[in-house]
Amino acid sequence: MIDQTLLPGKLLPLRIKSVRQLIEAIKTLRVRGAPALGAAGGYGIALAASLSPATNAPELMDELETAAAMIKGSRPTAINLSWGVDRALRAAALQETAEDIREAALREAEEIAQEDIRINKQLGKNGARLLDDGDSVLTHCNAGRLACVGWGTALGVIRSAVAAGKQIHVYSCETRPLHQGSRLTCWELSQDGIPVTLLCDSMSGSLMRKGKIDKVIVGADRITRDAAFNKIGTYSHAVLAKHHKIPFYVAAPLSTFDRLHGEDEIVIEERSPEEVTTLGAARLAPQGIEVYNPAFDATPLELVTGLITEKGVFRPPLMPPI
Ligand code: MRU
Repeated sequence: MIDQTLLPGKLLPLRIKSVRQLIEAIKTLRVRGAPALGAAGGYGIALAASLSPATNAPELMDELETAAAMIKGSRPTAINLSWGVDRALRAAALQETAEDIREAALREAEEIAQEDIRINKQLGKNGARLLDDGDSVLTHCNAGRLACVGWGTALGVIRSAVAAGKQIHVYSCETRPLHQGSRLTCWELSQDGIPVTLLCDSMSGSLMRKGKIDKVIVGADRITRDAAFNKIGTYSHAVLAKHHKIPFYVAAPLSTFDRLHGEDEIVIEERSPEEVTTLGAARLAPQGIEVYNPAFDATPLELVTGLITEKGVFRPPLMPPI
């Protein structure tokens, strides 16, 4: 995988050689973004299977269940991580020998990865119809190819619109505290030659008030029956978009949907205070200050104009079919 913590300075591959190393990579956001986590989860099970010395199926499945629980627990909000782990685990559980388990887990992980690109391209095509030539689109965090296996979700929609010949200008919020917007989205779009302007998260309202934003498109980490969970700060953009009568879209594959749960049942990951109080070696706040640092927030679906998926665009309360 690409070590996303090194971007935009360095584009370097990271070779994952153990489940423990994978968990470290997930926790530190070397690999991040819901669909990329889904693929990482699947490959995590394949890796655990290939590293295990177990010679019989029940023993190997026991080990995989333990690895699965550890991987899933490393980031609780993004549902794709557990979805990817469970998919590989289910494929493994259908086998009768340890060798078949290893093969099936790897096959399923490869399938998750390949499928992700196909799905994002379809989702992108469906969403591109919503964008007009000349639109300025605000996005938050990174829902691009870095956050997926390829193409991207929110940025996939933009890529598809550009590929269809439309001129699109992107406004990328920097996404405090870990700067996925400035580090990753700006890097990714610049690589593709898609015009992008960086702004601090708190600047989106004034930009909307000036009439500079035509649409907002973000990705999602989980979509429950009543809310879209995405990077902290998304909810504020949604409220502002509603006030300024700007369409607010959430682009996500079906694997991000969690119809069984409501907003109140979801655990939002709290991250370390240092992410907010320091920047590299520099201190940004007094020692010991109390910090609020949730990784995600929930945007009620009544603020969402449309859910862009591979099965089409759905206006809440409508949801895509399972
Ligand atoms: O904490 P992160 O960087 O993993 O958060 C990622 C996001 O919030 C993305 O917007 C979301 O996963 C959609 S990615 C296609």
